[in-house]
Amino acid sequence: MNKRTLGSQGLVVSAEGLGCMGMSQSYGPADEQESLATIDRALEMGIDFFDTAEVYGPYANEELVGRALRGKRDKVIIATKFGWKIEDGKMTGLDSKHVRQAVEGSLKRLATDHIDLLYQHRVDPEVPIEVVVGTMSDLVREGKVRYLGLSEAGEQTIRRAHAVHPITALQSEYSLWERNLEPRIIPLLRELGIGLVPFSPLGRGFLAGSVKRAEEYPEGDFRRGDPRFQGENFDANMRAASVVREVATKHNATPAQIALAWLLHKGDDIVPIPGTKRRKYLEENVGAASITLSADDMGRLDDALRPEAIAGPRYNERAMGWVDR
Ligand SMILES: NC(=O)c1ccc[n+]([C@@H]2O[C@H](COP(=O)([O-])OP(=O)(O)OC[C@H]3O[C@@H](n4cnc5c(N)ncnc54)[C@H](OP(=O)(O)O)[C@@H]3O)[C@@H](O)[C@H]2O)c1
Repeated sequence: MNKRTLGSQGLVVSAEGLGCMGMSQSYGPADEQESLATIDRALEMGIDFFDTAEVYGPYANEELVGRALRGKRDKVIIATKFGWKIEDGKMTGLDSKHVRQAVEGSLKRLATDHIDLLYQHRVDPEVPIEVVVGTMSDLVREGKVRYLGLSEAGEQTIRRAHAVHPITALQSEYSLWERNLEPRIIPLLRELGIGLVPFSPLGRGFLAGSVKRAEEYPEGDFRRGDPRFQGENFDANMRAASVVREVATKHNATPAQIALAWLLHKGDDIVPIPGTKRRKYLEENVGAASITLSADDMGRLDDALRPEAIAGPRYNERAMGWVDR
């Protein structure tokens, strides 16, 4: 797989990363053996960029990634995140007051002495971003962290953070059906030389077509509470996404591959991190990097999935409240 550079500080990663969250939560039961095999296969196929977070599990996902990458540390780029308050195994709010403790915990679980890319998972309105990035920057000086990132941060926060210490990447939701970054955030990232790591690049599976209606998912599956998977929204979004299937047929590809190829064509400063816990999907997703979309394909996709064609917000109200804009 080709390499891409994130940001202006020299971080080079595979053009696609692997989102590891779903191996421990959100999208159905965990399968540790298949997850470990998926990480191994990713390495074999040239993926070297692995995404996890303290809160995934919580904690279990970092432990899994740490186990999977034991003995291979020098070949991989590990990205993790801090910033949630975790009480009795549950995420109860934001917490960027305890950055150091969170990072010490992540280092232990990941079985490493350094984190390649450390993100603040959500902006905490109770702690000025200058203070948070100041601490993150101290961790860089101490050799515990190499590069810094933010997630779902708004324009002003990105500018203020970058003035304290260069920010290498923003990880925020960006995909064919979630374009909120296009008008202002992406131009700002390009102005400042910050890379973009789109999360949920397959729309949590929706763009890949591997989904059911919200109520058909068991309790605990994220998509049960996802407004875009509910009722009439589901039907409208399936109609809008039919173009992805059409373009896929034309390229003898799968819809997931087209959704990823679209992101890869949006700029070489973009490194999507599709999530999967199965080798089968991983292999398919790696194939997206070899697809060439024409300007006409890009235009059709851009237009058919424009924001007005998508029904429902990407998060419920509570989760939207944690997004900094
Ligand atoms: N910063 C943040 O706040 C934030 C938020 C969400 C996610 N993330 C990160 O971003 C990563 C990716 O996002 P995501 O996992 O939420 O969503 P995603 O990548 O858009 O979709 C994941 C879902 O799509 C399915 N899938 C993957 N490849 C497929 C294929 N080729 N064909 C059919 N279905 C396929 C997966 O199935 P299986 O589960 O069955 O493999 C899973 O259910 C996460 O793993 C996490 O590391 C970050």
